[in-house]
Amino acid sequence: MADRDAWASRLGFILAAIGSAVGLGNIWRFPYQTAEFGGAAFLVVYVLAVLVIGIPAILAEFVIGRRAEMSAIGAFEKLGRKEWTVIGAIGVFGGFWTLSYYSVVGGWVIRYLTGSFTGAYFGAPGEYFGAVSAGMDAIAFHALFMLLTVGIVAFGIEGGIEKATKVMVPAIVLLMVGLAFFAYTLPGSGPGYEFFLSPDFGVLADNLATVIPAAVGQALFSLSLGFSVMITYASYISDDKSLPVDGLSIAVVNSLIGILAGLVVFPLLASQTGEYGGAGPGAIFVSVPTALARLPLGELFGVVFFGIVLIAALSSSISLLEVVVSYLVDNHGVSRKPTTVGLGSVIFVLGLPSAWKTAWLGWFDGLAVNLILPLAVLLVVFFVGWVMADDAVDELRRGTSDLGTLGTVWLWALRTVVLLAVFGTLALSVFQFTGAPV
Ligand code: TRP
Repeated sequence: MADRDAWASRLGFILAAIGSAVGLGNIWRFPYQTAEFGGAAFLVVYVLAVLVIGIPAILAEFVIGRRAEMSAIGAFEKLGRKEWTVIGAIGVFGGFWTLSYYSVVGGWVIRYLTGSFTGAYFGAPGEYFGAVSAGMDAIAFHALFMLLTVGIVAFGIEGGIEKATKVMVPAIVLLMVGLAFFAYTLPGSGPGYEFFLSPDFGVLADNLATVIPAAVGQALFSLSLGFSVMITYASYISDDKSLPVDGLSIAVVNSLIGILAGLVVFPLLASQTGEYGGAGPGAIFVSVPTALARLPLGELFGVVFFGIVLIAALSSSISLLEVVVSYLVDNHGVSRKPTTVGLGSVIFVLGLPSAWKTAWLGWFDGLAVNLILPLAVLLVVFFVGWVMADDAVDELRRGTSDLGTLGTVWLWALRTVVLLAVFGTLALSVFQFTGAPV
């Protein structure tokens, strides 16, 4: 096999991994789920989930990828564990499935970007969202988003992914901090902070069975776990880099951006409607435009905001497509461009129900985040903890000279606490799963 590219720089890998992690999951999904599952109570469980499950699990994926120097499916065979290839297969399927509706939301972003130029949504943001989020409009913009994703992936990992993320992450932080300040100055924004930041543990205790799967799923989704993205990306890191340092930085930056989105959305909702739970998947698409309509130069800010959200969405969507493409290119010797176009078309068709009716989007999302994702992560954690075992610790140590006993602690955490926590989450989700919205 030809030499594989390695990341040109360490920054290149971190940026691509952050580019994958930071996306609609932080900006669209996190505030919407937080609103739906009780505000601060959800936030507490989410932060715990990142610390207890997310960070050990992202390291587990890094270890598989770098050890094997192979993407998703091929990795397990290369490690001499062909029977575990099923993890890669679930990952590829999960990425496929997720991208189908992710692209629909990405299409909404493009629609809002174009609408920003004229202030199209300024008059009635809520009605605007209702009109563009489903039906023929949504299908057209879903097609456009898929086209962009396919275009970037067709040109390969180096050119597309690294460059966009370099601009996107600092820009998104800057903009959201600005918007958060603006929200803070609005009259009536105060209760928003209370809802988001001050947990009512009584309410939490009563709703644990629904909050836990939602918050854990959100943490895993936001870190791009489960669907072999981090396995694939880590397969390009060289041996002298520290996986724990990279994993920790990615987890911290990623969570902070989600929390920042909350600091924008909840004060805005408080000052606009005072209603959180009913905000639904339109939370960010209604609250931010309502604020923009009141800002001087609102059109300009709208273009910049949705432009940056679009870059964030694309740097995640390309990672989902890249997993499938790199598997086929590495293992079956097919050529990159036609494969990418073919897969993009199939994913577009799979996304049609989600674009047609928002209830379908919710169903696709629920299946991906609450079932496929925890199942995939459960298998990864089990594989690294109990099958790779000492090899995993050995790989984690490579490039981190002063890890001490932390490697062993990590291994035992994976084997016990992390494994049980993910299993419990999955069990709760299976128990609560409801049928399709037909
Ligand atoms: N993490 C991304 C987001 O927050 C979405 C995403 C990209 C993803 N790749 C993934 C989620 C792989 C799960 C698995 O928007």
